[in-house]
This record gives sequence, structure tokens and C-alpha cells, in this order.
Amino acid sequence: MNPHFRPVALDHASRLINHGPTVLVTTAHGARRNLMAAAWSMPVEFTPPRIAVVIDKHTFTAELAAASGMIGICIPGAAIAALVHAVGSESGRDHDKFERHGIAARPGPVLGVPWLEDGCIACLEGRLLREPHAEDAYDTWFAEVVAAAADDRVFSGGRWSVSDDHPELQTIHHLGGGLFARAGNVIRT
Ligand SMILES: Cc1cc2nc3c(=O)[nH]c(=O)nc-3n(C[C@H](O)[C@H](O)[C@H](O)COP(=O)(O)O)c2cc1C
Repeated sequence: MNPHFRPVALDHASRLINHGPTVLVTTAHGARRNLMAAAWSMPVEFTPPRIAVVIDKHTFTAELAAASGMIGICIPGAAIAALVHAVGSESGRDHDKFERHGIAARPGPVLGVPWLEDGCIACLEGRLLREPHAEDAYDTWFAEVVAAAADDRVFSGGRWSVSDDHPELQTIHHLGGGLFARAGNVIRT
């Protein structure tokens, strides 16, 4: 795994997605595993740390998440923006995207969902909070974060330190049509 990863206190976990980065949602169930891009995720509670992510019902990700009751959220750095777009533009139902794209992953520390080894600056594991009525009506899934880690070059002491010294480690934000903006140019107030 990224040797710069350090555990993140769970009461700081929501800060990892507070600024709306495009994320990779990872799943595993039985012999199958998968990942997809998601631009729509957000924190919804600090303690316990809970997040929401939109996962279209028709995706293979939704199928594996429902079957396993858990998801991983990995936050890609700008270095792998093209990979994020690729895994968000194909379904893993018929092939293993990790193999197809040469993506190395290892099990997360608590639930064992895939955490990417390279190119990501933070990863979380979440246990799904099942909401049958909401699931019928919407594609929004809620999860309680049970583990988190982040690259200490850009996240430490519970805070992001966005810097133009590491453009490849900046989070990416989807503008549509495969275009992303990096988080940078911090404004201090
Ligand atoms: C940049 C980007 C952002 C995306 N954001 C979302 C999202 O927030 N929610 C969603 O359901 N699909 C989103 N998608 C589409 C899924 O990633 C896509 O349907 C994917 O192919 C599903 O793969 P799967 O069937 O292997 O799970 C996004 C795609 C891209 C490229």
C-alpha cells in the first residue's frame, strides 16, 4: 500500500469527502470484486461518522454492495484521473476491472473491502445502513465509516493540506464529459 498512508481518526473521517472529491467505490462479495467512479458522495454525520453515496441500482457495484453490506471509498489523486474515468465508463459485471486495468488492491483493515494500493490519497471502509424505503425510491446509499486512512503528505492532524508541490496528489472534481478540475489554489480566511 501507499507507504504514506496513516490511520485517520473516525471523528475526522467525514473531512476526507467534505469537499466533494470524485471517489472510487469498491466492493467485494464471494469471489467477485469491483470498483466504479462516483462524483456524488457526502458526509451526513460526524459521530458516528456516516456518509452517503449515490450508486445507480443498475450497476454491478450496487449488486455487490447489497449482497455484502459494505463498501470501500477510495479517493484518487489527480495522477489516476484517466483510470477513474475508465472504471466509471464500463461495467465490471462481465470482467474484473482490477485485472483489466492492472489495479493492485489489498483488503481494508476492518471489513476487507478493496483498498487501492497506488494512486489514491485516502481510503475508507463503510458498513451499509440499509434503508429499504429509501433504496426503493432513490439510488442513495448510507454507510457508517469503520476505518479510514490517508496519505500524510496531504492529510494530517485531521486536515487536508492541499499544495501545488504535489499536483498528482490533489483530489479531482468531475466537471462532466471526462473533464476534471484539481483541488488547489487554497484561499485562507
Ligand atoms: C467521473 C464519473 C463520476 C460518476 N459518478 C457516479 C455517481 O456518483 N453515481 C453513480 O451511480 N454513477 C456514477 N458514475 C457512473 C458509474 O461509475 C458507471 O455506471 C460504472 O460503469 C458502473 O460500473 P459497475 O457496473 O461496474 O458498477 C460516474 C462515472 C464517471 C466517469
